[in-house]
Amino acid sequence: MKVKDAQFIISAVSNAQYPDGNLPEIALAGRSNVGKSSFINTLIGRKSLARTSSKPGKTQTLNFYLINEQFYFVDVPGYGYAKVSKKQRESWGKMIEKYLMERPQLKGVVIIVDLRHPPTEDDRLMYDFLKHYQIPVLIIATKADKIPRGKWNKHVKITMDTLDVEPSDSVVLFSSETGVGKEEAWRKLENWISD
Ligand code: GTP
Ligand code: MG
Repeated sequence: MKVKDAQFIISAVSNAQYPDGNLPEIALAGRSNVGKSSFINTLIGRKSLARTSSKPGKTQTLNFYLINEQFYFVDVPGYGYAKVSKKQRESWGKMIEKYLMERPQLKGVVIIVDLRHPPTEDDRLMYDFLKHYQIPVLIIATKADKIPRGKWNKHVKITMDTLDVEPSDSVVLFSSETGVGKEEAWRKLENWISD
């Protein structure tokens, strides 16, 4: 997709603040600091529209980005960040769960995992949750630039096996540093947007 226009619309914590209208939405999910916000920036070709940080816990609300006035990317707080309080974690969990389960505009969720390491228990729970509610999933294994090419296949296989990925779901190898996987990711997401 050619991105001509990308705008930050709102940082929301509850339904009342989500944008009106019926445009499709694609949400990001994944461990804190894994590269969710960077993924959005890489896809839209803007260095820092979605705020990123080397410290985990940067994204704390549901952030809606309107792309080509056609669909929204929804950046979501990461899971598994130890330094937030239990209460805070529970309230994010509820907000995210409610959004994922009750938002008709949601067309699919991109789970971002770190290609370098096997997916975590939280990643598995997220994948299983989305499958259970029949929400379309795309798995992005990012930070491929940190692994030598010769080991890419092995790591992709570990990712697929650990998540027990269904044959109909794809794992796309990706890097926000080099842009590898960008075209393939767009091809998958375009199917969700045009459905
Ligand atoms: P939270 O909002 O805290 O949940 O984090 P996030 O998942 O949005 O991660 P973010 O995009 O902020 O990236 C976290 C760190 O990883 C930053 O320092 C990024 O520069 C780095 N990073 C993200 N993607 C890549 C990648 O593909 N390769 C490399 N080498 N670094 C990356
Ligand atoms: Mg983020």
